Amino acid sequence: MVKKFPEGFLWGGAVAANQYEGGWNEGGKGVSVSDCARHHLDVDVQDYAKQNEISTKEILEAMKSDDTSLYPKRHGSDGYHHYKEDIKLFAEMGFKVFRLSIAWSRIFPNGDDKEPNEEGLKFYDDIFDECHKYGIEPLVTMSHYEPPINLVLNYNGWYDREVIDMFVKYVDVITDRYKDKVKYWLTFNEVDSMIRHPYTTGGLVRDRFEGKNFPEVIFQAMHHQFVASALATKIAHEKNPDCKVGCMLTKLTYYPYTCKPEDLLEQQQRMRQIYCYSDTQVHGEYPKYLLQMYKNKGFNIKMTDEDLKIMKKYPVDFISFSYYSSSCVAADTKGLEMSAGNTETAIKNPYIPSSDWGWQIDPIGLRISCVDLYDRYRKPLFIVENGLGAKDTVEEDGSINDDYRIDYLREHIRQMYKAIEEDGVELMGYTTWAPIDLLSNSTNQMSKRYGFIYVDVDDYGNGTYKRSKKKSYDWYKEVIATNGSSILDD
Ligand code: BG6
Repeated sequence: MVKKFPEGFLWGGAVAANQYEGGWNEGGKGVSVSDCARHHLDVDVQDYAKQNEISTKEILEAMKSDDTSLYPKRHGSDGYHHYKEDIKLFAEMGFKVFRLSIAWSRIFPNGDDKEPNEEGLKFYDDIFDECHKYGIEPLVTMSHYEPPINLVLNYNGWYDREVIDMFVKYVDVITDRYKDKVKYWLTFNEVDSMIRHPYTTGGLVRDRFEGKNFPEVIFQAMHHQFVASALATKIAHEKNPDCKVGCMLTKLTYYPYTCKPEDLLEQQQRMRQIYCYSDTQVHGEYPKYLLQMYKNKGFNIKMTDEDLKIMKKYPVDFISFSYYSSSCVAADTKGLEMSAGNTETAIKNPYIPSSDWGWQIDPIGLRISCVDLYDRYRKPLFIVENGLGAKDTVEEDGSINDDYRIDYLREHIRQMYKAIEEDGVELMGYTTWAPIDLLSNSTNQMSKRYGFIYVDVDDYGNGTYKRSKKKSYDWYKEVIATNGSSILDD
């Protein structure tokens, strides 16, 4: 029997407005948090904490500057001007789904505006129409590191309750406008990431909370996002009862470094820190262990009975997640080698290789992650990010032979297949990060490339932005055309 993925499996790719679109000050768009995120060429690329720290002073400096080289997410891959060409290339690859995000600041430039920006709404109308022209279903993230900067400077980001109302208004507008064009929605990208990069996810700047316990501030902001996510789910369903709304989490997967009970306990504790967010969004209530943590740390998270009712009443329909790598944890980390991961560092696993950026490559970890999530929630899963950030070389004849990317994706897809066929996991689809080169979230580099399609622009924004196909382009096209069987049968 020929092995292949289930009929209707949604193959595709994923991008986010803040890293792909550029056009930061065009079409009436306001400035977002990502437009103020700087290049830190002097910093170790693995030192995420330092890179993601930003002060109010630095934001104000950024606001005075028109520089796009120093603030590279302002240019991204210039998808704002190239989206038609890009979607055509995705269609040629056979995409069934294209994951993208709507930049909140294109719709409500300041977040608190009375009326939405029609030019921004029209821009996404055109993108969705372009997708449908080729039979591609858009999968849309409502918020992917794009809060308008005004919400940071005048409301203290998601710490302020009022931001819930502004987000709800934004969701009301987009789910109404696109109710016939968008069937799949995700509320907050990697909702858990606020703990690792509070600024880009939550609009939280440490120096604005002097005298307050910053971790408590983060969990308060997180509570507001949980309420907002539940309300977004409610609204999206009201506008289109057939649509599906998912949560989105960073699937950080940890192994105990040894079989010492202390290491296993450490791993269990760490996994709870990862699952507490999806536990809340899937079951519609805070897990006891999270409330216990608040109590033990003396956090006073303000939540009303009404908030808890809303969270309970509108849980998500499916669980989406990103998966890139795995790492280890131990009770005693002394003398152990550390390695970078998705915006965090953890103990290096001696049995698996690493990418150029130190992210450990572990396809079996994807199968383990699928099984863990499915057993825990029994809801459909959607892998909405998986891919390899690597340095690509353009040969003299213009070819880009990214066999390392093909190897990475092939092995992950094979494990995904086993999760479905051997472990009984229900998987809706798979969107690689990213089908086209774009700005790295963590390092703000262009040279950390993920695409099947190369974009001619360097870390400083120099280049023609011309698109060209890499070797992996035709490879993925065949995977989709054969519904996976091209890589499952050998
Ligand atoms: C995910 C984010 O964490 O990882 C993306 O949702 C991000 O926005 C991706 O780009 C890859 O990480 P990076 O730092 O290599 O861009």
